[in-house]
Amino acid sequence: MIIAIDGYACTGKSTVAEELAKKMNFIHINSGMLYRAITLHLYNNGITTNNINLQLNNIEKMVNSINFETITYSTDSLKQQFISDLGSHIAQIPAVRAKVSEELHRIASVNNVIIDGRDIGSNEFPNAEHKYFFEVSTIERAKRLINERRWNYSEENLNKCIDEIEQRDSKDVHRENSPLRKADDAIVINRDNLSVDETVSLLYQKCNLNR
Ligand code: C5P
Repeated sequence: MIIAIDGYACTGKSTVAEELAKKMNFIHINSGMLYRAITLHLYNNGITTNNINLQLNNIEKMVNSINFETITYSTDSLKQQFISDLGSHIAQIPAVRAKVSEELHRIASVNNVIIDGRDIGSNEFPNAEHKYFFEVSTIERAKRLINERRWNYSEENLNKCIDEIEQRDSKDVHRENSPLRKADDAIVINRDNLSVDETVSLLYQKCNLNR
């Protein structure tokens, strides 16, 4: 069984997916982390926002030789701000999307999975049994990002996070390859007033009722 959880940046997709996976005894795949791992690998090999377009052939070669089983990066290193920025450029490259797609399908072919991302229900697994699309107001998302980064809560930092989130959303929504969009048959979950626990219970109930 495949449960797809898509949505904008910082809507709590992976936190909910992780908890739900434990409760259902499913494997959780955070597809954003695969894009981030590729991004850090490319960055360590000299790729930056300034040279992406000149290095597309090299990037394709480097990406094709990645083995996800052997590259290990800590969550902290993958969550760095420059990886978020560079990552939304890297995620537009067809060879990168193909690499992640191959990995998702490899794992999903032999496991029950909960996969969170941007295009899981719309593009990767259009036949997923359950599809959810998370929405949270931009201001709430910016507050979460401040907490995640352990920044001081100030108007300046809040505005920085709002800008960053809006720019990432815009790149994800407007890219040519597999843009972020709600699948027609996905259920929208507005999480403005729903805690992680409440969201997990809601999805657990819905997934089990429909089994
Ligand atoms: O989910 P997270 O913010 O960690 O994802 C990092 C980046 O990876 C996103 O900004 C997006 O550009 C890209 N991504 C994607 N498709 C997915 C998951 C993530 O393009 N399914």
